[in-house]
Parts: sequence; C-alpha cells; structure tokens
Amino acid sequence: MFKKMLSLLLTAIAVSGASQIVTAQNSTTDWTRYVDPFIGTEGSVPGTAFNGGNIFPGAVVPFGAVKIGPDVTTFNGSITVNSGYTPDGNVTAFSLAHVSGTGGGPVYGVVSQMPLASLKNVNLLDNLTYMATRSGNDSANVGYYRSTFENGIVTELAASSHTGFLQYTFPGEEDGHILVDVSHYLPSYGGGSQSQFYSNGEITVSADGKRYKGYGVYRGAFSQIPAYQIYYCGEFESAPKSSRVFTGRYTDPYWPDTFNEQPIFGNSSTASGGPLTYQYSDRVGAIFDFGRNTTTVKSKVAISWKSTELACQNLASEITHWNLPDVVTDAKKLWNDDVLGKITTTDLSNQTRLEMFYTGLYHTHLMPTDKTGENPHWETSEPTYDDYYTFWDTFRCLNSLMLLITPDRAAGIIRSAIDIWRHENFMPDGRSGFYNGQVQGGSNADNVLADAYVKGLQYGIDWNDAFAAMKTDAELTPYNTFDPADTTSSTKEGRGALPDWLNLGYITPSYTRSLSRTVEYSLNDFAVAQVAKRIEPESYEKYLNRSSGWQYLWQHDLKSLNFTGFLAPLYANGTRESAADYDPLGCGDCEGDSVAYEALPWEYSWTVPFDMETLINFMGGNNATESRLDSMFIPGLRTNGVGVGGQNGAGTTLFNPGNEPSFSTPLLYNYLPGRQWKTVLQTRNIVNTYYNSGKSGLPGNSDSGALDSWMLWQMLGFYPVATQPVYLIGSPWFTDISMAIGDGKRLSITAQNLSDSSYYVQSVKVNGQVWNKSWFTHDDIKDGGSLEFVLGSSPTAWDSGLLPPSPGHVTTNKPF
Ligand SMILES: *[C@@H]1O[C@H](CO)[C@@H](O)[C@H](O)[C@H]1NC(C)=O
Ligand SMILES: *[C@@H]1O[C@H](CO)[C@@H](O)[C@H](O)[C@H]1NC(C)=O
Ligand SMILES: *[C@@H]1O[C@H](CO)[C@@H](O)[C@H](O)[C@H]1NC(C)=O
Ligand SMILES: *[C@@H]1O[C@H](CO)[C@@H](O)[C@H](O)[C@H]1NC(C)=O
Ligand SMILES: *[C@@H]1O[C@H](CO)[C@@H](O)[C@H](O)[C@H]1NC(C)=O
Ligand SMILES: *[C@@H]1O[C@H](CO)[C@@H](O)[C@H](O)[C@H]1NC(C)=O
Ligand SMILES: *[C@@H]1O[C@H](CO)[C@@H](O)[C@H](O)[C@H]1NC(C)=O
Ligand SMILES: *[C@@H]1O[C@H](CO)[C@@H](O)[C@H](O)[C@H]1NC(C)=O
Ligand SMILES: *[C@@H]1O[C@H](CO)[C@@H](O)[C@H](O)[C@H]1NC(C)=O
Ligand SMILES: *[C@@H]1O[C@H](CO)[C@@H](O)[C@H](O)[C@H]1NC(C)=O
Ligand SMILES: *[C@@H]1O[C@H](CO)[C@@H](O)[C@H](O)[C@H]1NC(C)=O
Ligand SMILES: *[C@@H]1O[C@H](CO)[C@@H](O)[C@H](O)[C@H]1NC(C)=O
Repeated sequence: MFKKMLSLLLTAIAVSGASQIVTAQNSTTDWTRYVDPFIGTEGSVPGTAFNGGNIFPGAVVPFGAVKIGPDVTTFNGSITVNSGYTPDGNVTAFSLAHVSGTGGGPVYGVVSQMPLASLKNVNLLDNLTYMATRSGNDSANVGYYRSTFENGIVTELAASSHTGFLQYTFPGEEDGHILVDVSHYLPSYGGGSQSQFYSNGEITVSADGKRYKGYGVYRGAFSQIPAYQIYYCGEFESAPKSSRVFTGRYTDPYWPDTFNEQPIFGNSSTASGGPLTYQYSDRVGAIFDFGRNTTTVKSKVAISWKSTELACQNLASEITHWNLPDVVTDAKKLWNDDVLGKITTTDLSNQTRLEMFYTGLYHTHLMPTDKTGENPHWETSEPTYDDYYTFWDTFRCLNSLMLLITPDRAAGIIRSAIDIWRHENFMPDGRSGFYNGQVQGGSNADNVLADAYVKGLQYGIDWNDAFAAMKTDAELTPYNTFDPADTTSSTKEGRGALPDWLNLGYITPSYTRSLSRTVEYSLNDFAVAQVAKRIEPESYEKYLNRSSGWQYLWQHDLKSLNFTGFLAPLYANGTRESAADYDPLGCGDCEGDSVAYEALPWEYSWTVPFDMETLINFMGGNNATESRLDSMFIPGLRTNGVGVGGQNGAGTTLFNPGNEPSFSTPLLYNYLPGRQWKTVLQTRNIVNTYYNSGKSGLPGNSDSGALDSWMLWQMLGFYPVATQPVYLIGSPWFTDISMAIGDGKRLSITAQNLSDSSYYVQSVKVNGQVWNKSWFTHDDIKDGGSLEFVLGSSPTAWDSGLLPPSPGHVTTNKPF
C-alpha cells in the first residue's frame, strides 16, 4: 500500500539514484522513500493502537506546528487516541494540531474540517451521527496522507509549518459539504484528570463563504492546561454555494443526555461562544455547502497561537498555490535536507533495515513542536518550543542525537526551556499548550542541559541563565498542585520531593515514587555539578555530594533472585520495610502513586551512570554484576506488569524494552573488562525481537521518538552516556554510515565483514588509531572523524583498555 503510493508521488520529484553520495549540505538522495509513517501506529493487538507507539502518521514538516491527520473514535478507555489516529476507529474530522508518540490524556485534535456527503440524519453537534467508516487502510508517505471513506469521499492532506492543505474528492451525484466544528477536539474515553475539553470559540465567515477565521479555546489534557487558545484562518479554492454558521449549547461528553442538543443556525456571519474567559460557552461552527455533483474541493487552513491576523498571514505566505503535490514535494525536501540527509549510507542492501532506520530518524524530529514567533504569553527573541513530552523520556538519548545531527534544534529546544524558566520560574519536564506538566520523576531538563554543556553546545545558549535555571530545580520546591493522580507534591514542574532531598539526602515514602525520584534527583544533581564545575566552581562539591543520595537507598543485604543489594525505600528514621512488604521485583502498578515509576526497582537499580564504580562495587564486583546483567535479559523473570494494565511494558524480561528507565542497561557490559561483546549480543537481540518495519514495529509508546532514538543509536554503533561527554561503543548495522556532526562536519562509520551472523567487534579504530577502550569521548568526534569496525561471528575480548569513567564517583559512609 505504502510503496504503491510512494512510487506514484515520486514521479513528481526529482530523485536521483539512492546510491548517490551527499553533495554540499543538502541531500540529493530521496531518503523519504524509506520512511513509512505507519510504523509504530499499531500495538500488541494488530489492527488496533492498543499498546502501540501512538505515532502520528499524518502530514508534517520537521517539528511542524501543523500536524494534520484524522481524528477517530475508539470508545475503549485502554486505547488512548493520542495522535488522533487508530487504524480501526471512525473518522470524526481531520484536524491540524497533534502530538506524536505520547501517552497520558490526549491533547489537541483541534482546528478541523470534516467532509460530509449527505446531511440527512446528521446533527452537527453530535459526531456519532456523521462519523465516517473508512474503506481499506489509510495511506501515507512523508508530507502526504490519504483516507477513503466508505461513502466514497477521498481526503488528501499535506502541510507546511503552520498551514494544512486539505483536498477532497467527492463521489459525485451527492451533496458535498465541509463541516468546521470549532468545538472538535480529541477525547479521553472515560474521563479522568487529564481529560481535554472545549471551552470557547468563535468563527466568522466571509460574505462569499470562501474564507473563514476565528479561534478556539480548550483546556485539560496531559499537562492539565487551564486554557489554551488557537487561532485559525481558512480558505477554499472556490466559493461554496452557501454557508451557515451555527451555535449549540455546551455539551459535556460525560453527560450523555446533553447530546440531544441541536445546532442553532445563525443569520449573521459570526458565531461566538461568549465571553472569552467562560469555559462552558456555546459550541460554534460553520457548514459549507458545495452543492450537487461536487467533485473536488480544496482548502488551506493556517494556525497561529497568537492571533487570527497572524494565522491569516501564515495562510497567505506559506502555500501560495492550490497544487497539493507541490506542497508534498516541498515537505519531502525539508525532511531530506534538514533531517534524513544528516545520516546517509551507501549500504542499501536491506530495505527493511533502511525503513526502520529512516522512519526512526523521522520520528525523532516530530517533537517538540516549533512555535517560534508564536509565543502567546511573552515577547521573546528566543526560539519557542512546546510539547515537551517529556524530558523524562527524551533525556537519555534523543536530545543527545539531535545535539550531534541537528545542533541548532538541540540548542533551540534548550533555549526555549530556559526562556520558560525566565518567565515562569521553572523549566518544563513536560509541557503542552504552553503549560508545564507532567513531571514523571526528577527535573530532567537538568540532564539535557548538562549533556549539552559538557559537549560544548553553543548556538546562542546563555549558559549563565542555564545554570541559574538548573539551580532553581535543585533548590526551590515547587508548590503542591494536588494532582489527583499524586497529591504528595507538584506534578507541574521542578522537584516536588525536594524537602526530603535537602533535609535527608534521599526521598522517603511520605512522597510517592520515593525510590525512582531518589535515583533521578541523584542524576539531576550530578548534572548540576557538571555545569557548576566551570560556572560556579564553589558549588561543584556540594552538588556532587548530593548526587550520591541514591547510596542511602541501597539496601546491602536485600536479596532477590540470586542477587544481593538493591535500591529499597527508606524511612526518615532509617528503617526499611520488611521483606514481606517490599520486593524489588514489584512496585504495584508502578505508576505515579507507586514507590517506583513505570519501571521495577530492579531496573532502577542500574540507573546511576555517573558512578558505575560504586554500583559495581555494591553489586559485588565485576562477575556478580555481569551475571546480574545477564539475568536482566532472561525471558519470564518479569512477573509484575509496568503501568496500569501492564501497558508500559513489552516482553517478559526484567529489562523492559518498552520504556525508558531500562534504556542504558544492555550497554552496561561496556563497564566490565572484555565484555563489550555482550552489549552487542543483547542490543542486537532487543532490536531484532522488538523493533521491525511493520505497523507494530515499536515495543510501546514512541514517547516523542525516544524509543526510536534508542534503536537508531544501536544501528549507528555507539550510545551516549547522557550528562557525560562519553559514548559507549556498540556495533553498527550498516557497512558504512556518514553522519553529520555539528555544522558541516561528518563522522564516517564503517563496518567490515558485517552480516546477519557477523556482528561482534573484532577490532575498532577511532580516527585511524587502534582502540582498546569500550568508549570514546565527545572530543574524539566533535570535529567529525572515523570509526572503523572490523566485525566477526565470534565474540572477542578486544576491549581490554581503560573502562568508561565514573565522574560522579563519591565514596560515602551512608549510615544505612
Ligand atoms: C490493512 O492493514 C492491516 C494491518 O494493520 C493488514 O493486515 C491488511 O492487510 C491491510 N489491508 C489492506 C487492504 O491493505
Ligand atoms: C464505526 O462505525 C461502524 C458503522 O457505523 C460501527 O459499526 C462501529 O461500531 C463504529 N466503531 C467505532 C469505534 O466508532
Ligand atoms: C480495548 O481493546 C483491547 C485491544 O483490542 C481489548 O483487549 C480490550 O478488551 C478492549 N477493552 C474494552 C473495554 O473493550
Ligand atoms: C465527539 O464529540 C464529543 C462531544 O463534543 C467530543 O467530546 C469528542 O471529543 C468527539 N470525539 C471525536 C473522536 O471527535
Ligand atoms: C435567523 O432568522 C430566522 C428567520 O428570520 C429566525 O427564525 C431565526 O431565529 C434566526 N436565527 C438566529 C440565530 O437569530
Ligand atoms: C448531477 O449529475 C447528474 C449525472 O451527471 C445529472 O443528471 C444531474 O442533473 C446533475 N445535478 C445537478 C444539480 O447538477
Ligand atoms: C538546502 O535546503 C534548504 C532547505 O530546503 C535550503 O534553504 C538551502 O538553500 C539548501 N542549500 C543548498 C546548499 O542547496
Ligand atoms: C534485513 O534487516 C532486518 C532487520 O534488521 C533483518 O531482520 C533481516 O534478517 C535482514 N535481511 C537480510 C536478508 O539480511
Ligand atoms: C562532601 O562530602 C565529603 C565526604 O562526605 C565531605 O567531607 C565534604 O565536606 C562534603 N562537601 C560539601 C561541600 O558538602
Ligand atoms: C520508622 O518510620 C516508619 C514510617 O513512619 C514507621 O512505620 C516505623 O514504625 C518507624 N520505625 C521505628 C523503629 O521507629
Ligand atoms: C570472575 O570470573 C572469571 C571467569 O569468567 C574468573 O576467571 C575469575 O576468577 C572470577 N573473578 C572473581 C573475583 O571471582
Ligand atoms: C540462579 O542460580 C541458579 C543456580 O546457580 C541458576 O540455575 C539460575 O539460573 C540463576 N538465576 C538467575 C536469574 O541468575
């Protein structure tokens, strides 16, 4: 399906042979041919999004503010429609704003159109009366989306950064209508504190019906936004026969009896919900009638987060014609030049692998959303990004990837976070609708900033402000937001459990997630120390000391399976729970109100990358650590689901491939002398078992591309230790790779003797030098260079050199 459509569209694009080498800065190869936008849209129950990647499959340019795609029904509380799309639901609209690869309560799905054939039995206020079943699967390729309804209507979509292009082909002989329902948004099935709602809106239609504009106000969703306002400006290629605006009483989806409300058609050109601050105002919309025998209707709709005028300016400036294939071509060019061409290969032998790689790369540059110039809350010359979803997910390896290949974006995302601190007192961990939330654990912007700082990223980042923002996280307790999902401390921003951290050096169970927050705050303070080292040297030791807080929680005599010594909750009086009450193999739902968040204490017991030396010592030395690592990958040992209904878990190993806390675990063999080959073995197995080029090709929520970035690093053959200028060596999946590093430099990665049975490292050269360390530094590659691998079918202990560093090594005599 995907490939057929692709060859159709590619005729419009000048494509040269895929084996062509990249010239100048821009790619002459069309790498978009290897992107399948449906990878990661389905989950463990094929044909549904259940347990899937929640990938947005619609039309979008890199980091585009417009992500245009279908919104569908599911009526199944276990299937959140976070990207708008599931394969099996019915379409209620095509809307312009979405996020990709997220969990939690859905956000956006706003600024929409819906093509309707007949209005018979349709209540414009009730989407169940007009939702459309699709015939066959939707199809898509980069910059293009197509959906065919059973009633014969075909919808094609394309996008520029703030403008959506919608082209409808009606079957003929029926009426053709376009519904614009300003009160349309993505629902959460079953309510809850992260439900999204419509609050208010307005629409004005021009006298000839050809243009319309206005705004909508919505609230709730993942970050529990009090209100966000989005402005729109729409246009049809030709005027409709007629148009009417309408209003209707506010309908609450959780009060079904309100659904008998009928629209009231207005006689003027404007319908308004009422005073802007009112959250239960009338629903508003317009219906455009294109008459009998309508064939094609084309429309462009632009958005702005600042004003209707700006939306109309975006409409006038971004797409100046009515030719959909040209919009698609432009989007593909942007993807090739700005993202996909940053990593190239001449090894085109395996189409599946290329699809996994380039689709993964595509997924990593969809989020956060670039809203530069569109900040509604303050004037700024800084970049403005929104939809940080969330640093908790992305800090481990996604931000580090951008730092190398798209450093201007990496810096923009950081500058925007610092700008949010300037105006709102805290950087975000999560943020959407210009509102901070939800914090999952620590204040993980700190890790992203430290990672960039130790790697020398500049691009206009004010590092003094950056450090001040990090110190705010480290020193200022955010007030409690009393989130129903966790009433113990703020879920909006910062480190809610800071009082325990500052008073005791660890977090007690009087706070939720006390175990996972303790290890995360430890890494956060290591991050602060890394930046303090040069900006405020007198604070370095203080933060470094604080980074050892995880050692308090280590219960040296706690046994689980064959192993002794684990993280365990610790009360203020120094006592622990009895073995009967606490088992590091479990954490209940492992949710916001559990002792550990979305991962087992077993998994969190590996997450102190800054002091592996102490960890290996605590675990009983190299051999014990090695067998404990081995046990992470034995099928069947995980008996406790992760997340409500086990939805954050994949497989049955203690290592959870479907969520971030376990990300670095399979690479920790690099910290054991001569054991790098096990890193290769485990990561190969994980990618081969859990990732593929199918619609269920991701082992869980992509999390804004975090999962995809993990897979990409494995295929590149190295992996970042975020917050340190260090990369662990793996084993590449292509015989050659040319990777952009910073502006205009390239890192060449070659693999001799690579095959599906020959992937163990026999030898490596870094910049031509014979290498016997399982790691290298950022300095080794920051100006480009080369990694030359020779691979083979049997393991060798080539890595006999110095082990990766533990720059946060602190010897303490923690009293417990
Ligand atoms: C639609 O996609 C499903 C997988 O989600 C596949 O099994 C089915 O064959 C596809 N149908 C068509 C008509 O391509
Ligand atoms: C989709 O519409 C069809 C036909 O009306 C209906 O049978 C089905 O239950 C609907 N499914 C959902 C998820 O809305
Ligand atoms: C939701 O969908 C999943 C996957 O198909 C299914 O296992 C589950 O039973 C459904 N839940 C409900 C309430 O229908
Ligand atoms: C359908 O309409 C209800 C009521 O306005 C709304 O809550 C819900 O989000 C809509 N669902 C979809 C999938 O558009
Ligand atoms: C529009 O005009 C018709 C006929 O004059 C009238 O019945 C109707 O109430 C008007 N609608 C509104 C919203 O004012
Ligand atoms: C629509 O097309 C049909 C068949 O071509 C024709 O008979 C009919 O008159 C047309 N109706 C209108 C309103 O143009
Ligand atoms: C590369 O592409 C970008 C965006 O498409 C464009 O602005 C730039 O001029 C191109 N550079 C070269 C060297 O072709
Ligand atoms: C192509 O790559 C995929 C994914 O890595 C792998 O499963 C498959 O075995 C490879 N096929 C060949 C012929 O090498
Ligand atoms: C850091 O910890 C060491 C050892 O526990 C201690 O001697 C030193 O005073 C601490 N430094 C600061 C700044 O707290
Ligand atoms: C320590 O504190 C915990 C939690 O408040 C309490 O359950 C326990 O009884 C206390 N133990 C002692 C020895 O005071
Ligand atoms: C660790 O295991 C190796 C064999 O894998 C053995 O030679 C060595 O003696 C062991 N070291 C310790 C300290 O037990
Ligand atoms: C625990 O030790 C036993 C006996 O040596 C062994 O059979 C088993 O595989 C080990 N389990 C794990 C998880 O390492």
